[in-house]
Amino acid sequence: GKDHRLARISSSIRVIPDFPKPGIMFQDITTLLLDHKAFRDTIDIFVERYREKNISVVAGIEARGFIFGPPIALAIGAKFVPMRKPKKLPGEVISEEYALEYGTDKMEMHVGAVQPGDRALVIDDLIATGGTLCAAVRLLERVGADVVECACVIELPELKGREKLGHRPVFVLVKG
Ligand code: PRP
Repeated sequence: GKDHRLARISSSIRVIPDFPKPGIMFQDITTLLLDHKAFRDTIDIFVERYREKNISVVAGIEARGFIFGPPIALAIGAKFVPMRKPKKLPGEVISEEYALEYGTDKMEMHVGAVQPGDRALVIDDLIATGGTLCAAVRLLERVGADVVECACVIELPELKGREKLGHRPVFVLVKG
């Protein structure tokens, strides 16, 4: 049956119209973080799903994957690896470009953080076009990891982001 916790999670997310630009309905998870029950339920649902799946690495995407990823990694006994914007990581990195609405951006990961055979879970707050998750998946697969699943709190299904992820499953809690 439908998880009773999802209604509270959904209603704790604030939608701010025209941020950061006109026409964008911004899904603001900072209000979810203010509701400790909703925040705990969010982490619990992910932990229940992934604790028996032999995940060895939780890859969190800057910026809000850094909020949801670490408590999941600690609870399931996996390492946490930050996937960062360019020029933030101090060690040797590998990077992937991805398309934005206008232009491109880059995502970077430390060399050696993820090993061949690692079983990865990718975490972010939201999937829109799927370009960001896709770049994270490419980085992980380039170093030989097996991406078990991508998980987000919110999906914008109209943008069909999960189609970009091919065969890799995408798990989400609520739709915006
Ligand atoms: C948002 C969101 C995802 C990404 C999803 O990040 O947190 O990371 O966009 O979009 P996509 O599926 O179309 O790629 P944002 O660009 O706001 O960057 P930030 O997390 O650093 O603020």
